[in-house]
Amino acid sequence: MTNQTTVHLTIDNLPVHVPAGTTILKAAQQVGIEIPTICYHDYCTANALCRICVVEVKGARLLVPACTATVQENMQVNTRSERVERARRTILEMLYATVDLSEAPEIEAMATAYGVDRQRFPLAEPRHPPLIDDNPMYIRDYAKCVLCWRCVQVCAEDAQYTYAINFKGRGYETQISTFYEVPMPESTCVFCGQCVGVCPTGALKFKRQHLLEVGYSLDEILQMTRSERSGRRRREPRNV
Ligand code: SF4
Ligand code: FES
Repeated sequence: MTNQTTVHLTIDNLPVHVPAGTTILKAAQQVGIEIPTICYHDYCTANALCRICVVEVKGARLLVPACTATVQENMQVNTRSERVERARRTILEMLYATVDLSEAPEIEAMATAYGVDRQRFPLAEPRHPPLIDDNPMYIRDYAKCVLCWRCVQVCAEDAQYTYAINFKGRGYETQISTFYEVPMPESTCVFCGQCVGVCPTGALKFKRQHLLEVGYSLDEILQMTRSERSGRRRREPRNV
């Protein structure tokens, strides 16, 4: 007799039995099949924004995002079909065409695994918004942002309930920003650092790490960041 709360399906021809409501991503993990993810984070609400996790489901017209699609009885899932691999490769190639992924090691590993041509769209215009350094805690370099939405979610209902950031703009101009684009200290941000913790690309980075990377000594950094916090002294510009 079939247990009504258990769903039976196959993933890459392997039989899988999981509770109803399980996502394809989690069901696949249960049998040792890793599906790549970018926007998904175990502690954030899945929004299926990046589509890197798409899989092929027999009988379905479109590829489905494994991070949000739930298992169905007798479903047949293929996580590595030619169509799936082509879709993932193209998504990565489009990301490389517009975003600086030099500090996104997980995406870099995916690109290698999927044989990505990082120059596939040479006429694309990479986004180069200026680095924002407006507070003593962290910098924002949205040239590295893949718009995964994780930072917005942890700032909102997924963790902090602070609502300091959201999307601004549309299409190519879309970017994460504070409301009315006010500097971070004038927003509702409480500098909890959770957004930095979930950012997968280095777009958000703790200030001290950033200053170390651009050549300041620990002593200089401590002096600068403490001074900035107290508001007593400001850092002099330095060419490094
Ligand atoms: S800043 Fe980071 S966490 Fe936020 S949307 Fe961009 S890549 Fe994602
Ligand atoms: S990881 Fe599923 S859509 Fe981004």
